[in-house]
Amino acid sequence: MLSEFVKSADWKSEKHVPVIECEDTVESGSCLPIKITIGKEIPHPNTTNHHIAWIALHYVPEGAQTSVEISRTEFSSHAAGADGPDSGPALTCSYVTVCAKLAKSGTLYATAYCNIHGLWASEKIVTVA
Ligand code: FE2
Repeated sequence: MLSEFVKSADWKSEKHVPVIECEDTVESGSCLPIKITIGKEIPHPNTTNHHIAWIALHYVPEGAQTSVEISRTEFSSHAAGADGPDSGPALTCSYVTVCAKLAKSGTLYATAYCNIHGLWASEKIVTVA
């Protein structure tokens, strides 16, 4: 299973772990801003040859048997340019903020893909009041 290759760790000591930041509790029907950052404590390299390619966010409501994909952000600009790697005019940063209205309490799962170091994940429980 692919899950055997999904890595996780303490984000304070591992630069690849997605950090999910949002309120712990939200009212039903309210928009919940959710920020996901890679390299919050220890910056991840962000170059043409080594970068975060995408971040995805899933949600599993309590009691559900499947996840719901909330967002998927692909970072397409990694400073590649006509003069070679790291010479281009645009470099995306490895974070994203999305907003979602959650119908019931559950768990958010963030995954991120580094083009060299693979797939990383973290989770956060959210209570819907
Ligand atoms: Fe990496």
